[in-house]
Amino acid sequence: MSHPQVWFITGAARGIGRALTLAALDAGHAVFATVRGEHALPEHERLAVHVLDVRHHDDARAAVRAAVERFGRLDVLVNNAGYGLIGAAEEVTEAEARAIIDTDLLGALWLSQAAIGPMREQGSGRIVQVSTTGAVGSMPTLGLYNAAKWGLEGFSEALAAEVRAFGIGVTIAEPGGVDTEWGTGSMRFATPLPAYDELRTGVFGTAEVPWPSDGGTGGGTAPEAVAAALLAHVADADAESPLRLLVGDDAPGQVAAALRMRLADYGRDARFAEAWAAHDED
Ligand SMILES: NC(=O)c1ccc[n+]([C@@H]2O[C@H](COP(=O)([O-])OP(=O)(O)OC[C@H]3O[C@@H](n4cnc5c(N)ncnc54)[C@H](OP(=O)(O)O)[C@@H]3O)[C@@H](O)[C@H]2O)c1
Repeated sequence: MSHPQVWFITGAARGIGRALTLAALDAGHAVFATVRGEHALPEHERLAVHVLDVRHHDDARAAVRAAVERFGRLDVLVNNAGYGLIGAAEEVTEAEARAIIDTDLLGALWLSQAAIGPMREQGSGRIVQVSTTGAVGSMPTLGLYNAAKWGLEGFSEALAAEVRAFGIGVTIAEPGGVDTEWGTGSMRFATPLPAYDELRTGVFGTAEVPWPSDGGTGGGTAPEAVAAALLAHVADADAESPLRLLVGDDAPGQVAAALRMRLADYGRDARFAEAWAAHDED
């Protein structure tokens, strides 16, 4: 997929979405970028900026229709919009739990559903789900974020097998830490219970939440590097490409550690160890 493409990118006002929008324009592509409100994206003849809250099913479908009307086709959908929530399972309210599932999981589902029709008609397309290494493992107090992204990966893995015959590819991108406002200004916090103070101190070095919201996460992969990795992947991707894309230098180690822990846990069941060994011999 190297000819000029039409990209649809959610959460394009900031962070990874903004960096990817600018990189795709630089690469000669057209971009239908969705934002929720204020943004500082440049005026550009190949850029359309559209207001969308991904939680809203009908608006998501209308946005995909608008993109196809504007640019005549849809080559790449990037479900990037999302946020994190700090709160132990006991601390999270019903509204907080529903909101993060609506955004990080169902938002991506509504847009993926909407994109399949035009991509199937073209006989080509790629859906990129911006997941996280936290969709392989989990972290205490990030459980609802983990749940939303695990859900995203669950339906996306099935989706990949459902749409392959239509010429549509699916990529699950798993960044490690990225230097955006995800962990600071964008982070949401459940009301803390003192019972989890010690746990929070162990995980974050402080029991105090919310934590200061200025600046980026610091220390992670630059969003521009994430954008470059996604662009390069889409340019090269074909039916044989791996479903999961590790993004950033820290991602392989985080995923390896999470999978190792899971295997060790299953391995405590002797039947699993036998089944695993039998599979190895095949
Ligand atoms: N940063 C990391 O360390 C990291 C690591 C792994 C995965 N990720 C994932 O990468 C994606 C992008 O995050 P980021 O790091 O670029 O964070 P970010 O700078 O906070 O950007 C997140 C974007 O998502 C948008 N958004 C949030 N809720 C939305 C909704 N309901 N409808 C539409 N847009 C919504 C935000 O819109 P507004 O601008 O209007 O607020 C913002 O533009 C997320 O899915 C995140 O989970 C991030």
